[in-house]
Amino acid sequence: MNICIIGTGYVGLPSGVGFAELGHNVVCIDKNKAKIDSLNSGKVTLYEDGLEELFLKNLQDGRIKFSTKMEDGVPQADLVILAVGTPSHPVTKEADLSFIYAAASEVAKHLDGFTVIATKSTVPVGTGDMVEAIISQVKPHDTFEVVSLPEFLREGYAVHDFFHPDRIVVGTDSIKAFALIKELYADHKDSPILHTSRRSSELIKYASNAFLAVKIHYINEIANLCEKVGAKVSEVAQGMGMDSRIGPRFLNAGPGYGGSCFPKDTRALVYLANQHNSKLSLVNNAISGNEERKDMMARRIMSAVKHINQPKVAILGLAFKNGTDDCRESPAVDIVKTLIKYNMPITVYDPKAMECAKELLGSKVFYANSMEEAVTDADVIAVLTEWDDFKALDYEKASMLVRSKIIIDLRNILDKEEAEKHGFDYHCIGMM
Ligand code: UDX
Repeated sequence: MNICIIGTGYVGLPSGVGFAELGHNVVCIDKNKAKIDSLNSGKVTLYEDGLEELFLKNLQDGRIKFSTKMEDGVPQADLVILAVGTPSHPVTKEADLSFIYAAASEVAKHLDGFTVIATKSTVPVGTGDMVEAIISQVKPHDTFEVVSLPEFLREGYAVHDFFHPDRIVVGTDSIKAFALIKELYADHKDSPILHTSRRSSELIKYASNAFLAVKIHYINEIANLCEKVGAKVSEVAQGMGMDSRIGPRFLNAGPGYGGSCFPKDTRALVYLANQHNSKLSLVNNAISGNEERKDMMARRIMSAVKHINQPKVAILGLAFKNGTDDCRESPAVDIVKTLIKYNMPITVYDPKAMECAKELLGSKVFYANSMEEAVTDADVIAVLTEWDDFKALDYEKASMLVRSKIIIDLRNILDKEEAEKHGFDYHCIGMM
């Protein structure tokens, strides 16, 4: 099948590489020339485990191509996938659909022969109708179908999730379009395909992300209670997760959820609900609770060093979670921004997200080249992202490098016993 993907971000690029690996001919289009030049020269533009290898293989085999021009991919395509960003509007917090609508009107000009246009970007209910209306202005209605094909890839695990999705949701009333999408995923034999209306499909994506955000907010509040009553959140989560109605995933207490999806999608869902005079109190509470949590975590780090004159803070982790170089809406970055206001020297380190963090934090912090450099002379080590590298912290060495032996582990990943054995005053989330 000939596929054209519009947008080469965290959804478009792994999907494009995945479809090429499945044997389809893929052309990825992006307006960003520097990105396209880099991809054409064999340099992958974002970090995803296992992506580079597959990307290079399919680029060399000629199954994936990159261009800035719609005419290089759209006319030949059986399927055009819209995978452009839908950021939060800075004022209203609704999903900004300008990139989707601009892409749809550009695509429309170049369509040739019957084409399915599938929206993978997370878009509010009714966006498919608008995309259809935009394309209808240029092309006759019987030459295209607009389908909702939400993407559930997690950053950091995008390659794995592409090949092993829990489900494939296809929102369309068209039998012809549904048949094409079924063919697209013919090799995904273990993943169920759910056929729904376009509007249900659009809402499934928001409702899923918001549900997971609520689940995280819930376990974070339970973690607070654990600290008050002397219970351990890891044990509570384990016990809850063994109930198959609840499930064990997304019950890790931490500094709050972040990333390019949960914060933006929860806000957009609430906006949509408000527009329709429909109440989403749980999601609303998760949004405000998550903001409060980041402040609370910053205060926790501060209070650990309040007795120290001119304390120095070492931050381990800036990405919004492990496995990614992305720190958009990262709780770690927000916590560091709060700490900066206290005018303390802060040294930060992340194995993958330093470039992204530099854009957000500028010259207000020191950037270390290693975990050891970050903790040197520190009065408190704060772990904000759950990287495996941090789990391998050499406590013996660290105890000689630091000035004060205090650890605030906001991801519950370090070894309390080992830390205490080496004289560290160790604090984590949801347990004494
Ligand atoms: C999410 C959805 O999982 C994915 O299906 C969708 O396509 C895009 O949005 P992603 O943003 O990559 O994926 O990250 P995810 O792994 O879901 O984590 C989101 C945030 O929640 C991170 O900040 C993470 O640290 C936090 N989190 C997750 C927790 O704090 N605890 C958990 O138990 C799980």
